[in-house]
Amino acid sequence: MLFTVGSLGAVKMFDNCERILYCRLTPWLQTRRTGPATSSINAGNMDRPVHLSNIFDPVSTPAQAILELSWLVLWICAGIFVIVSGLLVYTIIRFRRRRADDDEPPQVYGSNQIELAWTVIPLLTVFVLFLVTTRTITAVQHTVPSAEALLVTVVGHQWWWEIRYPALGIVTANELHVPVSDQTQPLPTFLKLQSVDVVHSFWVPRLAGKTDVIPNRDNQMWIEPHEPGLYLGQCAEYCGTQHANMLLRVTVHPRDDFDRWVAAQQQPPVHDPSVQAGRDLFQATACVNCHTVQETVANGTFGPDLSHLMSRATLAAGVVDNTPHNLRAWMRNPQQLKPGNLMPDMKLTPQELEHIVAYLVTLQ
Ligand code: CUA
Repeated sequence: MLFTVGSLGAVKMFDNCERILYCRLTPWLQTRRTGPATSSINAGNMDRPVHLSNIFDPVSTPAQAILELSWLVLWICAGIFVIVSGLLVYTIIRFRRRRADDDEPPQVYGSNQIELAWTVIPLLTVFVLFLVTTRTITAVQHTVPSAEALLVTVVGHQWWWEIRYPALGIVTANELHVPVSDQTQPLPTFLKLQSVDVVHSFWVPRLAGKTDVIPNRDNQMWIEPHEPGLYLGQCAEYCGTQHANMLLRVTVHPRDDFDRWVAAQQQPPVHDPSVQAGRDLFQATACVNCHTVQETVANGTFGPDLSHLMSRATLAAGVVDNTPHNLRAWMRNPQQLKPGNLMPDMKLTPQELEHIVAYLVTLQ
């Protein structure tokens, strides 16, 4: 029985170690990729410091519930560990063989009190853990959206996230924008998770636990962030070569800020006459088979929607900052920045490349 409780604890602790390692590494990797962690968010006109991933610093209801349960399990297991190892050490020292010991020690057969204690106490411990775990799982997996909830569909692709707001008519990629939810005005976001290829896993540590994203199946999860800010996440299920570069950014906006973001995304794409050459060229290439730009012939869905490309802070699911320089490098040779990704090299001439980049950077 003790062993059962102990191994449950070990699994939980191992899981946490893995998360701690991940959470220690991610900010560092992110800093190396996108500059200092204190840089402000350059999408969404916000000027707040970047919040890094950390399961010990939840800002959303499900993440908070999971952390509370983790601490309870951790403390109970730590208590068991201290008691068992304490008794073990005491016994080894107190009853060790001494020089004067010639005979066998007294042979004791059975003790009803002790037998009862080491059966009943672990049984109660497991029962308590079972009950609180069940309560937390039921609360976290509550998947019926409330009437006011924001509904978002997240589709996993190798190796990027498609993000759709069906009721708002918005399609974007890799950067989820949601409103803050406060006590007086709860506004949770319910996510429907789908995959077009392999199994991925959606995980933003400060907002909720992991949920797998499985082909031919709709999974559900919800978040309810209480603080505006940027929260980092990533795919948490190995899904191929660029699994580690399938990063997620979740921007939590104050209400009016979120409404402004929605209004901007609902605008038709900018139609700048000065980049007509680039637009024509773009529409004449195979780009249109994989990407969508509203109000053009581009209506592909294999790759990210580009209608508001430049409103996003990063390119290639968080690999680099979304700057004209990086966009040019990306289009010149997509395999260099993200080897193995599914965007082909379009073999554009330098002049064609310049025209198309000039057009794309107008898509605010
Ligand atoms: Cu998608 Cu790992």
